[in-house]
Parts: sequence; structure tokens; C-alpha cells
Amino acid sequence: MAKILVTGGLGYIGSHTCVALFESGHEPVVIDNLSNSEAHVKNQIEAITNSSISLEVLDLCDFDALNRFLEKENDIAGVIHFAALKAVGESVEKPLLYYQNNIQGLINLLTAQKNAIPFIFSSSCTVYGDSDILPLKEDFPFQKAVSPYGSTKQMGEEILKFSAGKNHQGPVIALRYFNPIGAHPSSKIGELPRGIPQNLIPYLTQTAAGKRTILSVFGDTYPTHDGTCIRDYIHVMDLADAHVFALNRLLEGKNKNNFEVYNIGTGKGCSVLELIHKFEKTTGVAVPHKIAPPRAGDVTAAFADTELAETVLGWRAKRSLEEALLSAWNWEKQLP
Ligand code: NAD
Ligand code: UD1
Repeated sequence: MAKILVTGGLGYIGSHTCVALFESGHEPVVIDNLSNSEAHVKNQIEAITNSSISLEVLDLCDFDALNRFLEKENDIAGVIHFAALKAVGESVEKPLLYYQNNIQGLINLLTAQKNAIPFIFSSSCTVYGDSDILPLKEDFPFQKAVSPYGSTKQMGEEILKFSAGKNHQGPVIALRYFNPIGAHPSSKIGELPRGIPQNLIPYLTQTAAGKRTILSVFGDTYPTHDGTCIRDYIHVMDLADAHVFALNRLLEGKNKNNFEVYNIGTGKGCSVLELIHKFEKTTGVAVPHKIAPPRAGDVTAAFADTELAETVLGWRAKRSLEEALLSAWNWEKQLP
């Protein structure tokens, strides 16, 4: 059983990954500053896994506290770094907050790390920008970032590419997530957006539940088959599993390079209207919606080429879109 440091481990993807880590025989140790999560998520992870999890409420920007913590926890075998701010719109309003939290947090973590251990980084398909060529492949060059948030993911990858394997840094895998959706089948953990959801699925499920009156579909004149944007929606449990595959690759020394990148998506694109209709068909619940103007910064279409993840990591998404939508709905229904 390897002890794995999970930063941001009480957040949406981190909490599901803690469950996947326990299930694969690892022991997650969580750092979180609770800036976008709730302390009770720890109890929920414990209830699902029937294990106890260690939580340190700590801000990665507080270097001294982080350093003290890592001096104490000197048997950590790997790191999965989720902790970051992720709201694209907010990052445009508060760019320095995003650079400070996401970049300083990353550099502090790398600096305070004591040993050259495997490191998994949460990147995003946002690094590809608006590409005309699809599916998106790992070797496509970065496009100009459209938001400070996207810029922090590009910079994070650059920092890791140049520092991996140097001095006391170990090997790194950056996982470029496509659009994670859904929840654990137990409905004990899931996405907990604060305030008005900015992302499609929480807005959609809240509308279906009657908490919001109508879902706005942002734009219907994109050059796609029905005019709405296309994304690659992946079940968060499949995404969580991908972290275990990536981590094990590094722990077992199977990596060919000190810095590797993998797309984590299903490889299938789905438009906004298709997603709404699939949700309605799967759950039997109507989603009132209307066409609204396009949202600034949205790309027309993004879906993954998953060949590298399948052939090299040995991972592929197993769960269907219907299963993901149903789990998102079951999660929404039990929320207050
Ligand atoms: P989340 O906000 O639910 O989880 C992030 C967690 O990190 C939260 O619990 C938050 O409290 C914590 N955190 C933030 N800054 C911190 C700091 N300085 N110190 C300690 N803890 C801190 O987000 P998520 O959806 O789980 O995303 C996890 C990671 O994946 C992020 O890096 C995000 O940018 C990336 N990502 C997410 C998506 C997505 O659609 N959710 C897509 C691509 C990439
Ligand atoms: C967004 C971010 C991306 C980030 C990811 C996770 C942008 C431009 N991109 O991805 O960088 O990694 O979240 O935080 O914000 N939609 C509607 N109505 C809504 C909400 C969304 O029609 O109320 C549409 C959007 O136009 C888009 C699709 O649904 O076409 C998915 O949107 P969203 O869930 O916000 O994810 P992304 O924009 O793909």
C-alpha cells in the first residue's frame, strides 16, 4: 500500500480519485484548504471505502506550513495534484488570484517535496484552445490561452516539463481532462458547485430538479450538425481510474520519459442539444431550455484522441454517457 498525497482531494475529481486509490490498494493523504469543498466530504469518502482518510487543512500557498507537513509525512510515495481554482469567468476577473493560487501552489509543492517521487498533474483540454483539427492529439501545439485559468494549465505543464526528473523532482504525468461529469454510484460524493453553476451538467440537473427555471443553450449557430458546441463528456469515475493507471505506471517505473501527457476523454463528441435530449430520455425528466447567445471564449468542438491513453497507459473509459447522466441526476436528487 503506497501513501499518495492528494492535493485538493476533497474537491469534485479529487474525492472520486481518493475512492479509486483506496480501491486499488493505495492510501490517499489529503491536503485541501476547503476553498471550494466541504470538510464533510472526508466522511463520505470514508463511508464509501470503509477506511479512514487523513486530511490536512492547509493552503498550498502557505509554504512554511506545507514544508512542515511534508517533513512530517516523509513516507509519501507519489503525488496527485488537483488543488487549483478552476472557474474560467472568475479567472478573467481575478487573473492574479489564479496565477498565485495555481502557479505558486504548484511551485511551492514541487519545492517542498522531499524526494523524487511520481507526480500526476491535473491539466485540461483547454490547453488545445480552438483547434480546427479533431480529434485532439497530445502532440498538437498549445493554442493561445483564452483565459488566465487556461494559461495556468499551460504554464503548469511547461513548469513540469522542464523540472521533471531534475534535482529532487521525480517523473511527471500530466492528464488532460476533457469534460468530467457524473458522480459516484452511491451518490455520497459528487459535484458541489457554489452559487450559480457555470458548467453545463450542474446547471442542467438543477433545472431538471426545479431549482433553476430554464437552461440557456449558449449558441446554436456553431458549424456543427445541430449548431451547438460539441464536447467529450467523461464519467468522473472513469477519470478517477485514469489517475490510478498513470500513478501505477510511474510507481512501476514503466514510463519512457520523465514527462508524459495523456488525453483523458471518451473520444466521442456530444453536442449540447444531444446531451439535453439524452438526459431527458435516460431520466424521463424534462429540461426546460432556450437558445441564448454564445458564451465568450467557448470553442466549437473538443474531443479526445484516446489512442495514447489506451495503448500506453492501458486505460480507457468504460462507463456510458447514459450512466454518467443518471449518476449526475441521482446525485442532484438527494442534495438539499
Ligand atoms: P474542485 O474545485 O472541486 O477541487 C479543487 C480542490 O482544491 C478544492 O477542494 C479546493 O478547496 C482545493 N484547493 C484549491 N486551491 C487550493 C490551495 N491553494 N491549497 C489547497 N487546496 C486548494 O475542482 P475539480 O473539478 O475537482 O478539479 C480538480 C483539478 O482538475 C483542478 O486542477 C482543475 O483545474 C482540473 N480540471 C477540472 C476540470 C473540470 O471540469 N472539473 C476539467 C479540467 C481540469
Ligand atoms: C469549461 C472551461 C474549461 C474547464 C472546464 C472545467 C470554458 C470556456 N471552459 O469547459 O476550461 O477546464 O469548464 O472547469 O469555460 N453550456 C451551455 N449552457 C450552460 C453551460 C454550458 O450551453 O449553462 C455549454 C457551453 O457553451 C459548452 C458546453 O455546454 O459548449 C460545456 O460547457 P461547460 O460545462 O462550462 O464546460 P467547458 O466550457 O467545455
